[in-house]
Amino acid sequence: MSEKKHRVSRRQFLTYTLTGVGGFMAAGMLAPMVRMGLDPALEASSATDFISVGLSRDELSEEPQRVDFVVELDDGWYQSEQTRSAWVFMNGDEVMALSPICTHLGCTVNWGTNEENPEEFFCPCHFGRFERDGTNIAGTPPTRPLDVYDVDVRDGMVYLGQINQRG
Ligand code: FES
Repeated sequence: MSEKKHRVSRRQFLTYTLTGVGGFMAAGMLAPMVRMGLDPALEASSATDFISVGLSRDELSEEPQRVDFVVELDDGWYQSEQTRSAWVFMNGDEVMALSPICTHLGCTVNWGTNEENPEEFFCPCHFGRFERDGTNIAGTPPTRPLDVYDVDVRDGMVYLGQINQRG
């Protein structure tokens, strides 16, 4: 190969140098911005925390009672409050908390409102029925049990965590 092929002109040298330095400076400016933009999304959400529902374990019986409580959501960019509900009761020695959202099409289930089956959860939208522990009753529209909350009891008070799907 001739020496002439490997020579870099002054114009090419300046182009390469300025492009390299410019790219390096741009990366240095953009990296912190990208990091700032992504950082909140990488933080753990506070929605998984346990929230007090204002009931003590001693106030619970086998009869489900509905509680409404507020969850503060923080997705990194926005903070908001969301009201959630649960049916809470003693299931043997355990505190159980069920979601009131019907697993058929999302209507709200109530306890004991079906006169023919007063010891069940009942969904008025399509007559869905659930046992007291949330198990869906065969022959009614829902095909899986009511979702269940994680439960914790601290100093006698009931706290609810995330909702879990069963079945
Ligand atoms: S939404 Fe509850 S039975 Fe259909």
